[in-house]
Amino acid sequence: PLTGPKEMFARAYKEGYAIGAFNVNNMEIIQGIMQAGAEEKAPLILQVSAGARKYAGQTYIVKLIEAALSESDLPVVLHLDHGSGFDICKDCIDGGFTSVMIDGSHLPYEENIAVTRRVVEYAHDKGVWVEAELGQLAGVEEDVSAEHSVYTDPDQAVEFVERTGCDSLAIAIGTSHGAYKFTGKATLDFDRLSTITDKLPGFPLVLHGASSVPQEFVAMANQYGGEIGGAQGVPEDLLRKSASYGVCKINIDTDIRLAMTACIRKHFAENPADFDPRAYLKPAREAVKNMVQHKIRNVLGCSNKA
Ligand code: G3H
Ligand code: 13P
Ligand code: ZN
Ligand code: NA
Repeated sequence: PLTGPKEMFARAYKEGYAIGAFNVNNMEIIQGIMQAGAEEKAPLILQVSAGARKYAGQTYIVKLIEAALSESDLPVVLHLDHGSGFDICKDCIDGGFTSVMIDGSHLPYEENIAVTRRVVEYAHDKGVWVEAELGQLAGVEEDVSAEHSVYTDPDQAVEFVERTGCDSLAIAIGTSHGAYKFTGKATLDFDRLSTITDKLPGFPLVLHGASSVPQEFVAMANQYGGEIGGAQGVPEDLLRKSASYGVCKINIDTDIRLAMTACIRKHFAENPADFDPRAYLKPAREAVKNMVQHKIRNVLGCSNKA
């Protein structure tokens, strides 16, 4: 059933694992993730970005998720990813989302507090969870692209949580959005993470930009005509480690894109006469399922936690 993240995160926090938050844009992605969750008996967060709403339409995406839920007993959170202001958050709250992110991370600090506070007041009135963000991730998001990241200041995080009343907080400790996260050695600032966890005991943290960019997909895409050389993600052991701290939600979008695209490229290369979308979307959906299942079981640690 559709649920909020409260109990999911409380248990994840206590037991030191994380819930996967997967970006959904179409039917095949939703089906692949749901299938993986079902086989692993894992709680799931399906997250919808502004771009996903624009691509599929909010009604379609919500109805697809409702269809998935009608065939499943899994606890599933329907979450707005990177809400840029009050209006989109309100739309999603009114449309049945159980969780929204207000991303004021690119605003001046006091403006981030003000907009987050406003969303919290509206959301809490309706029993909806609010994720906020403090600090900036490098990389490309829908409307913003930052060259450098600004890591989250632990003391400011404490004040931000107190003053906004947000329910969870996305932090910047070295991850970034997209397929090109590191040029040299991949590292995260675990000292900072553990300081934040110490200063906000029991408070759920969120890691954005947490795709691992599996090299088998990069190689497969490139072998069949792709040009995504140099793509590098967050190593799985660093994600496992972050889940053992206060990180309860780990966001994954790029790995879904890579899994599907690598498979579809391969399919077209091997079956040049094929033009039935089902013929290439079926293996793409299967690739999403296998990738998500691997994450749940071997990285996030949330198998059998549904
Ligand atoms: O943070 C960005 C997510 O990967 C969503 O991407 O805005 O292109 O849907 P999108
Ligand atoms: P990736 O680009 O690493 O998949 O991050 C996704 C994300 O943070 C969505 O909010
Ligand atoms: Zn993100
Ligand atoms: Na955790």
